[in-house]
Amino acid sequence: MSSQTLGLEPRLRDYLVEFGVREPDVLRRLRERTAALPDSRMQISPEHGQFFHVLLRLIGAARCLEVGVFTGYSTLVTALAIPDPGTITACDISREWTDIGREFWREAGVEQKIDLRLGPALETLDGLLAEGREEAYDFAFIDADKENYAGYYERAVRLVRTGGLIAVDNTLWSGQVADPRAQDTATVAIREFNRLVAADDRVEISLLPLGDGLTLARKL
Ligand SMILES: C[S@@+](CC[C@H](N)C(=O)[O-])C[C@H]1O[C@@H](n2cnc3c(N)ncnc32)[C@H](O)[C@@H]1O
Repeated sequence: MSSQTLGLEPRLRDYLVEFGVREPDVLRRLRERTAALPDSRMQISPEHGQFFHVLLRLIGAARCLEVGVFTGYSTLVTALAIPDPGTITACDISREWTDIGREFWREAGVEQKIDLRLGPALETLDGLLAEGREEAYDFAFIDADKENYAGYYERAVRLVRTGGLIAVDNTLWSGQVADPRAQDTATVAIREFNRLVAADDRVEISLLPLGDGLTLARKL
């Protein structure tokens, strides 16, 4: 889960958010609205959102792909960071959660940038490849069901252009990846994914201890 950065004591984390995050009002309200949901911890943290804002601007991203929308916070961060016209193909299976996002995307005036595709994301990504979108994206963010991470990553490597970036959330998984006693399916899948990326010579990588662990993979 990623609504806060791992291992930071609360006082220091509050300080980091106070001085390191500029969260627009519409994003703050979406975060507050999401906080009322039982699954609110699935949302990326404001410091993660802030990092994405600068990162997306740095790489000049305009065509983005997102796997795992939830209530649309990371989607909105992305939409606010990219130029107009710029697009986000956003994949999720939940109409209920993404409907919350739509309200805030509309309010922020960025709804036209977001192409929401509801359905199992492996099928959606295969559809994008079938539509001829190989190498069509500057940036991809993977943040959905952990068991499919390797499948999402393989497709993202094809969909992102050379020099483009793939970001993958939850790759430290509350520290469970380093605990040999943790053998549940999600932990095992993330460990396998981390092993795959560490050995993948198609990309340059960095695994950051931001949020719940964030892997960056730049396509060579
Ligand atoms: C961790 S949340 C995404 C959080 C989001 N990035 C944010 O910042 O708020 C994971 C999302 O993946 C979606 N999901 C789970 N399995 C999926 C699948 N097979 N295909 C597409 N989306 C899926 C869930 O519905 C959920 O909204």
